[in-house]
Amino acid sequence: FGAQVLRGLKVVVSAGPTYEDIDPVRFIGNRSSGRMGFAVAEAAAQVGAEVTLVAGPVSMATPPGIARRVDVRSAAQMRDAVMAASNGADIYIAAAAVGDYRPAEVAGHKLKKQDGAPLELRLTENPDILATLAAQTVRPFLVGFAAETHDVERYAQDKLKRKGLDMIAANQVGGGLGFEAADNALTLYGPEGAIDLPRASKTELARQLVARVAERYRAVRG
Ligand code: C5P
Repeated sequence: FGAQVLRGLKVVVSAGPTYEDIDPVRFIGNRSSGRMGFAVAEAAAQVGAEVTLVAGPVSMATPPGIARRVDVRSAAQMRDAVMAASNGADIYIAAAAVGDYRPAEVAGHKLKKQDGAPLELRLTENPDILATLAAQTVRPFLVGFAAETHDVERYAQDKLKRKGLDMIAANQVGGGLGFEAADNALTLYGPEGAIDLPRASKTELARQLVARVAERYRAVRG
Protein backbone atom coordinates (compact mmCIF):
# COMPACT_ATOMS: atom_id res chain seq x y z
CA PHE A 1 0.00 0.00 0.00
CA GLY A 2 1.25 3.50 -0.74
CA ALA A 3 1.89 3.28 -4.49
CA GLN A 4 0.15 6.24 -6.10
CA VAL A 5 -2.61 4.13 -7.68
CA LEU A 6 -5.19 6.97 -7.56
CA ARG A 7 -2.86 9.78 -8.60
CA GLY A 8 -4.61 12.40 -10.72
CA LEU A 9 -8.09 11.15 -9.79
CA LYS A 10 -10.80 13.12 -8.02
CA VAL A 11 -12.44 11.05 -5.28
CA VAL A 12 -15.47 12.06 -3.21
CA VAL A 13 -16.12 10.26 0.08
CA SER A 14 -19.19 10.73 2.27
CA ALA A 15 -19.03 9.79 5.94
CA GLY A 16 -20.95 9.83 9.18
CA PRO A 17 -24.64 9.98 10.00
CA THR A 18 -27.25 12.53 8.99
CA TYR A 19 -29.43 14.39 11.48
CA GLU A 20 -33.00 15.28 10.60
CA ASP A 21 -34.43 18.02 12.75
CA ILE A 22 -37.75 17.57 14.53
CA ASP A 23 -37.74 20.96 16.25
CA PRO A 24 -35.02 23.46 17.26
CA VAL A 25 -33.61 21.10 19.94
CA ARG A 26 -34.36 17.54 18.72
CA PHE A 27 -33.44 15.40 15.76
CA ILE A 28 -33.54 11.87 14.34
CA GLY A 29 -30.07 10.45 13.75
CA ASN A 30 -28.17 7.18 13.75
CA ARG A 31 -25.11 5.63 15.39
CA SER A 32 -22.60 6.07 12.57
CA SER A 33 -19.34 7.44 14.01
CA GLY A 34 -17.85 8.45 10.66
CA ARG A 35 -14.70 6.43 11.36
CA MET A 36 -14.96 4.09 8.38
CA GLY A 37 -15.57 6.94 5.93
CA PHE A 38 -12.79 9.09 7.39
CA ALA A 39 -10.40 6.12 7.13
CA VAL A 40 -11.41 5.60 3.49
CA ALA A 41 -10.85 9.29 2.71
CA GLU A 42 -7.40 9.17 4.34
CA ALA A 43 -6.46 5.96 2.50
CA ALA A 44 -7.52 7.43 -0.86
CA ALA A 45 -5.42 10.55 -0.21
CA GLN A 46 -2.43 8.35 0.72
CA VAL A 47 -2.48 6.80 -2.74
CA GLY A 48 -2.57 10.13 -4.51
CA ALA A 49 -6.27 10.98 -4.94
CA GLU A 50 -7.59 14.53 -4.67
CA VAL A 51 -10.18 13.85 -1.97
CA THR A 52 -13.32 15.78 -1.09
CA LEU A 53 -14.75 14.54 2.22
CA VAL A 54 -18.44 15.28 2.78
CA ALA A 55 -19.05 14.75 6.48
CA GLY A 56 -22.27 14.48 8.43
CA PRO A 57 -22.33 15.62 12.08
CA VAL A 58 -19.30 13.85 13.58
CA SER A 59 -16.63 14.88 16.06
CA MET A 60 -13.60 13.86 14.04
CA ALA A 61 -10.57 15.81 12.92
CA THR A 62 -9.93 16.02 9.18
CA PRO A 63 -7.38 13.33 8.23
CA PRO A 64 -4.07 14.43 6.68
CA GLY A 65 -3.94 14.91 2.92
CA ILE A 66 -7.63 15.70 2.37
CA ALA A 67 -8.03 18.44 -0.26
CA ARG A 68 -11.46 19.64 0.89
CA ARG A 69 -13.95 18.94 3.68
CA VAL A 70 -17.61 19.93 3.50
CA ASP A 71 -19.65 19.61 6.72
CA VAL A 72 -23.37 18.94 6.44
CA ARG A 73 -26.17 17.94 8.78
CA SER A 74 -29.23 16.59 6.95
CA ALA A 75 -29.61 14.11 4.07
CA ALA A 76 -30.81 16.93 1.80
CA GLN A 77 -27.68 18.95 2.59
CA MET A 78 -25.52 15.88 2.04
CA ARG A 79 -27.18 15.28 -1.32
CA ASP A 80 -26.49 18.87 -2.44
CA ALA A 81 -22.85 18.72 -1.29
CA VAL A 82 -22.22 15.30 -2.85
CA MET A 83 -23.87 16.25 -6.15
CA ALA A 84 -21.76 19.42 -6.37
CA ALA A 85 -18.52 17.62 -5.47
CA SER A 86 -19.25 14.66 -7.78
CA ASN A 87 -19.56 16.85 -10.85
CA GLY A 88 -16.36 15.92 -12.70
CA ALA A 89 -15.25 13.43 -10.04
CA ASP A 90 -13.88 10.00 -10.98
CA ILE A 91 -14.96 7.96 -7.97
CA TYR A 92 -17.64 8.38 -5.29
CA ILE A 93 -17.43 6.21 -2.18
CA ALA A 94 -20.63 6.48 -0.13
CA ALA A 95 -19.72 5.52 3.42
CA ALA A 96 -22.29 7.81 5.04
CA ALA A 97 -25.25 6.33 6.90
CA VAL A 98 -27.87 8.55 5.28
CA GLY A 99 -31.16 8.69 7.16
CA ASP A 100 -33.93 7.09 5.14
CA TYR A 101 -36.62 9.44 6.52
CA ARG A 102 -37.01 12.98 7.85
CA PRO A 103 -39.89 14.60 9.71
CA ALA A 104 -42.51 15.84 7.21
CA GLU A 105 -42.62 19.15 9.07
CA VAL A 106 -39.92 20.75 11.19
CA ALA A 107 -41.52 22.57 14.14
CA GLY A 108 -40.36 26.16 14.50
CA HIS A 109 -40.62 25.96 18.31
CA LYS A 110 -39.80 23.28 20.87
CA LEU A 111 -42.57 20.65 20.92
CA LYS A 112 -44.40 20.30 24.24
CA LYS A 113 -45.80 17.21 25.99
CA GLN A 114 -49.39 16.46 25.05
CA ASP A 115 -50.97 15.72 28.49
CA GLY A 116 -50.43 11.97 28.11
CA ALA A 117 -51.70 11.79 24.52
CA PRO A 118 -49.31 10.12 22.03
CA LEU A 119 -47.26 12.43 19.86
CA GLU A 120 -47.25 11.44 16.21
CA LEU A 121 -44.36 12.22 13.89
CA ARG A 122 -44.98 11.91 10.17
CA LEU A 123 -41.88 11.02 8.17
CA THR A 124 -41.06 11.66 4.53
CA GLU A 125 -38.55 9.57 2.57
CA ASN A 126 -35.19 11.20 1.91
CA PRO A 127 -33.61 11.37 -1.55
CA ASP A 128 -31.29 8.43 -2.30
CA ILE A 129 -27.98 10.10 -3.14
CA LEU A 130 -26.34 7.07 -4.73
CA ALA A 131 -29.36 6.19 -6.83
CA THR A 132 -29.60 9.82 -8.01
CA LEU A 133 -25.96 9.73 -9.12
CA ALA A 134 -26.33 6.29 -10.69
CA ALA A 135 -29.18 7.57 -12.87
CA GLN A 136 -26.90 10.12 -14.56
CA THR A 137 -25.32 9.23 -17.90
CA VAL A 138 -21.96 10.73 -16.97
CA ARG A 139 -21.21 9.60 -13.45
CA PRO A 140 -18.31 8.67 -11.23
CA PHE A 141 -17.41 5.04 -10.47
CA LEU A 142 -19.84 4.35 -7.63
CA VAL A 143 -19.04 2.43 -4.46
CA GLY A 144 -21.76 1.93 -1.85
CA PHE A 145 -21.79 0.52 1.66
CA ALA A 146 -24.42 -1.82 3.04
CA ALA A 147 -24.43 -2.00 6.83
CA GLU A 148 -26.91 -4.62 7.90
CA THR A 149 -27.88 -6.42 11.08
CA HIS A 150 -29.01 -9.57 9.18
CA ASP A 151 -29.11 -11.15 5.69
CA VAL A 152 -26.05 -9.08 4.75
CA GLU A 153 -25.25 -10.73 1.43
CA ARG A 154 -28.80 -10.73 0.12
CA TYR A 155 -29.38 -7.03 0.91
CA ALA A 156 -25.95 -6.06 -0.44
CA GLN A 157 -26.43 -7.87 -3.76
CA ASP A 158 -29.89 -6.35 -4.05
CA LYS A 159 -28.55 -2.81 -3.45
CA LEU A 160 -25.72 -3.31 -5.95
CA LYS A 161 -28.25 -4.12 -8.67
CA ARG A 162 -31.15 -1.89 -7.67
CA LYS A 163 -29.00 1.24 -7.22
CA GLY A 164 -26.85 0.48 -10.28
CA LEU A 165 -23.50 0.56 -8.41
CA ASP A 166 -20.06 -0.56 -9.57
CA MET A 167 -19.15 -2.06 -6.19
CA ILE A 168 -20.67 -2.46 -2.73
CA ALA A 169 -18.93 -3.03 0.61
CA ALA A 170 -21.11 -5.03 2.95
CA ASN A 171 -20.73 -5.34 6.68
CA GLN A 172 -22.57 -6.89 9.58
CA VAL A 173 -23.39 -4.39 12.32
CA GLY A 174 -23.11 -5.61 15.91
CA GLY A 175 -20.85 -7.91 17.95
CA GLY A 176 -18.07 -5.33 18.22
CA LEU A 177 -18.08 -4.61 14.49
CA GLY A 178 -19.47 -1.80 12.39
CA PHE A 179 -21.17 1.24 13.90
CA GLU A 180 -19.37 2.92 16.82
CA ALA A 181 -16.69 0.18 16.75
CA ALA A 182 -12.96 0.38 16.00
CA ASP A 183 -12.97 -2.81 13.90
CA ASN A 184 -14.93 -3.85 10.90
CA ALA A 185 -15.06 -6.71 8.41
CA LEU A 186 -16.22 -6.26 4.82
CA THR A 187 -17.22 -8.29 1.83
CA LEU A 188 -16.93 -6.49 -1.50
CA TYR A 189 -19.40 -7.39 -4.22
CA GLY A 190 -19.16 -6.34 -7.84
CA PRO A 191 -19.78 -7.80 -11.27
CA GLU A 192 -16.57 -9.84 -10.86
CA GLY A 193 -17.78 -11.63 -7.71
CA ALA A 194 -17.15 -11.41 -3.97
CA ILE A 195 -13.93 -10.53 -2.11
CA ASP A 196 -13.70 -11.03 1.66
CA LEU A 197 -11.76 -8.48 3.71
CA PRO A 198 -11.59 -10.15 7.14
CA ARG A 199 -11.86 -8.42 10.52
CA ALA A 200 -9.30 -5.64 10.95
CA SER A 201 -9.03 -2.04 12.10
CA LYS A 202 -10.99 0.43 10.01
CA THR A 203 -7.66 1.98 8.93
CA GLU A 204 -6.39 -1.33 7.56
CA LEU A 205 -9.71 -2.24 5.95
CA ALA A 206 -9.97 1.18 4.32
CA ARG A 207 -6.57 0.64 2.69
CA GLN A 208 -7.61 -2.74 1.33
CA LEU A 209 -10.90 -1.34 0.10
CA VAL A 210 -9.20 1.57 -1.67
CA ALA A 211 -6.69 -0.82 -3.31
CA ARG A 212 -9.58 -2.95 -4.66
CA VAL A 213 -11.52 0.10 -5.84
CA ALA A 214 -8.43 1.38 -7.67
CA GLU A 215 -7.91 -2.01 -9.35
CA ARG A 216 -11.52 -2.22 -10.47
CA TYR A 217 -11.64 1.43 -11.55
CA ARG A 218 -8.54 0.94 -13.74
CA ALA A 219 -10.05 -2.23 -15.22
CA VAL A 220 -13.28 -0.55 -16.33
CA ARG A 221 -12.28 3.10 -16.84
CA GLY A 222 -8.57 2.88 -17.65
O1 C5P B 1 -29.17 3.01 3.65
P1 C5P B 1 -28.74 1.95 2.66
O2 C5P B 1 -28.40 0.65 3.32
O3 C5P B 1 -29.67 1.83 1.48
O4 C5P B 1 -27.35 2.49 2.10
C1 C5P B 1 -26.70 1.84 1.05
C2 C5P B 1 -25.82 2.84 0.37
O5 C5P B 1 -26.62 3.89 -0.18
C3 C5P B 1 -24.79 3.53 1.28
O6 C5P B 1 -23.60 3.64 0.52
C4 C5P B 1 -25.41 4.88 1.56
O7 C5P B 1 -24.43 5.88 1.77
C5 C5P B 1 -26.21 5.15 0.30
N1 C5P B 1 -27.43 5.95 0.52
C6 C5P B 1 -27.58 7.15 -0.15
N2 C5P B 1 -28.71 7.91 0.04
C7 C5P B 1 -29.68 7.48 0.87
C8 C5P B 1 -29.55 6.25 1.55
C9 C5P B 1 -28.39 5.52 1.36
O8 C5P B 1 -26.70 7.55 -0.92
N3 C5P B 1 -30.77 8.22 1.04
